[in-house]
Amino acid sequence: MSKFTYMFITCTFLFIIIMSCYGCKQVEYGIDSKCCPMCSPGYFVHRHCTEYTVTTCLPCPSSTFIGEPSGLEKCRSCTTCDTNLGLRIQKNCTSVSDTTCDPLEGNFCSRFSPPSCSLAQKHTQCEPGQYIKQNGTASTDTVCTDCVGDTYSDGSFSTCRSHTQCKLMRKGGTSSSDAECEDVVTIIAIILSLLLLLTMMLIFFWCWEKRNIPV
Ligand SMILES: *[C@@H]1O[C@H](CO)[C@@H](O)[C@H](O)[C@H]1NC(C)=O
Ligand SMILES: *[C@@H]1O[C@H](CO)[C@@H](O)[C@H](O)[C@H]1NC(C)=O
Repeated sequence: MSKFTYMFITCTFLFIIIMSCYGCKQVEYGIDSKCCPMCSPGYFVHRHCTEYTVTTCLPCPSSTFIGEPSGLEKCRSCTTCDTNLGLRIQKNCTSVSDTTCDPLEGNFCSRFSPPSCSLAQKHTQCEPGQYIKQNGTASTDTVCTDCVGDTYSDGSFSTCRSHTQCKLMRKGGTSSSDAECEDVVTIIAIILSLLLLLTMMLIFFWCWEKRNIPV
């Protein structure tokens, strides 16, 4: 290798090493080929640093935030928890942290973007013929299960109930409704009334006929 080649290789190496060292330190950001100190969380860059001055930072206006040291010239807008998406505020926005949302009462989170819920859905209502095996929670939907055998539920029960056992059935039970029983006392009362009416009519006709027998 000639001296010249040797020098060339050395210079190239040095150049690469110097270039790789160029770049800003961790708490700095690059701007116009110089490095400026970052602003703290909750602050944005008002004026970049110069040869003679450090970065000027200002606090984020309300409803905006920056969560980490940065060279951002604008704070990020706080997320809003949209009730149309089934969401409510879990933690209000601060200048250093975004809003977090969680599901409204009666909803469960169907899309989770840690640490916040970004979409929630209403809990499923169990159908008639099903019982609520497990109530819905903020993170899980309701679990519905069909009633089987001689049981029923209107969809709101937490267990299937047995059909009433009738002495005299008016309407059979289904998986969504109880059996309806005939009221035995009423039936007996009706039959007795009919018998009484019949007897009175018989007596009436008997008397009437007797009176009209030609003498
Ligand atoms: C969030 O802030 C509002 C007023 O700015 C307040 O009414 C609400 O209760 C706060 N919510 C929580 C979860 O702190
Ligand atoms: C569901 O919640 C209701 C009250 O809201 C309660 O009465 C019922 O026992 C619960 N069901 C289950 C399966 O935990």
